[in-house]
Amino acid sequence: MTAETSFQTAGTLSSLAPGTARRVVVGGLALALARDSEGTVHALADRCSHDDVSLSEGEISRGRIECWGHGSEFDLVTGRPAQLPAIDPVAVYPVQIDGDAILVDTSRTLNGL
Ligand code: FES
Repeated sequence: MTAETSFQTAGTLSSLAPGTARRVVVGGLALALARDSEGTVHALADRCSHDDVSLSEGEISRGRIECWGHGSEFDLVTGRPAQLPAIDPVAVYPVQIDGDAILVDTSRTLNGL
């Protein structure tokens, strides 16, 4: 049996500098496309689990993205908040890189959400 994937273009590496994030809509989902300081790209649901704030507007450091609402920092790999007030994780989606293209599969998550 072959696993089906549905990666779609979400942006380009050349337009997403390390340490930055941006909001994109892929497959009808708003995503925070975030590139950590080492250059790895992550795709998280672009809504804080605490309230209606876009995570893509937050600062990235130490492998986390900070919500400007109340300061919870979400791990870019697991989607889990490192501190209160957020308690619940946010969805993290699979990312592939093809040349300069950033591809995201919104049909499944990496953290079971
Ligand atoms: S809205 Fe994100 S921590 Fe409160």
